Amino acid sequence: MTGFAARLRKATMSEHRDAETRSFIARLMSGTVPAAGFAALTAQYLIVYRELETAALAMRDDPVAGDFADPALSRVAALESDLACLYGPDWAEHAEPTEATRRYAERLREFCYTSPAHFVAHHYVRYLGDLSGGQLVGRKVAATYGLGARGTAFYRFEQISDPKAYKTVYRARLDALDLPDSERDTLVAESQLAFTLNAAVFQELGTAYPEDLVAAA
Ligand code: HEM
Repeated sequence: MTGFAARLRKATMSEHRDAETRSFIARLMSGTVPAAGFAALTAQYLIVYRELETAALAMRDDPVAGDFADPALSRVAALESDLACLYGPDWAEHAEPTEATRRYAERLREFCYTSPAHFVAHHYVRYLGDLSGGQLVGRKVAATYGLGARGTAFYRFEQISDPKAYKTVYRARLDALDLPDSERDTLVAESQLAFTLNAAVFQELGTAYPEDLVAAA
């Protein structure tokens, strides 16, 4: 792979490796997060995706970023239904942002409604991740917590039948981005920041929900 998609992947490789090996998400993969921690992650995601998907609406007609803002990716409804499963009818009381989530959401609000480069950076880090490792995480948590399809809709893209093919098209879209070099540099730097903002959310959750082998299935 050459081109901008490859550059982006390379530039975020070490951040990705940390997410894969050391983060709260890695602990989800080893089944050492208590069920309450998984529910808390889902609640934090809702806050992030509400912001990201409001930005997607704002970007829908943007000539550069518009193609990325695909409603088939939308996760907010799935997250709301997952939270109703995980917490019950009073789930909204649990959807309060932690400090790191508040900073992440603020960053999205400040830049992603108006700057295509910032929007695409954050879009890439979350959705391409959800369509990649997220698929493994979804299967693992369903097994760990004995949830099956309940509470794990976030990890399933009902409108995307072939995630691999979708990612190929997505990367072609990244390669074809009509942005000047300075904006491409901004996009790369913002992708690295997006990983850092995610890592901060994971870090906080890891502290709030220490290892608990009870969750291992
Ligand atoms: C245990 C955790 C994780 C695992 C096992 C994992 C696994 C993977 C795998 C196997 C790929 C390659 C997919 C492909 O080339 O088609 C991938 C790509 C990706 N992942 Fe993860 N991942 C994890 C966590 C994360 C997290 C937490 C994020 C973001 C917050 C993330 C963001 C991404 C992105 C943006 C890509 C696309 C890279 C590219 O090709 O440009 N991943 N992941």
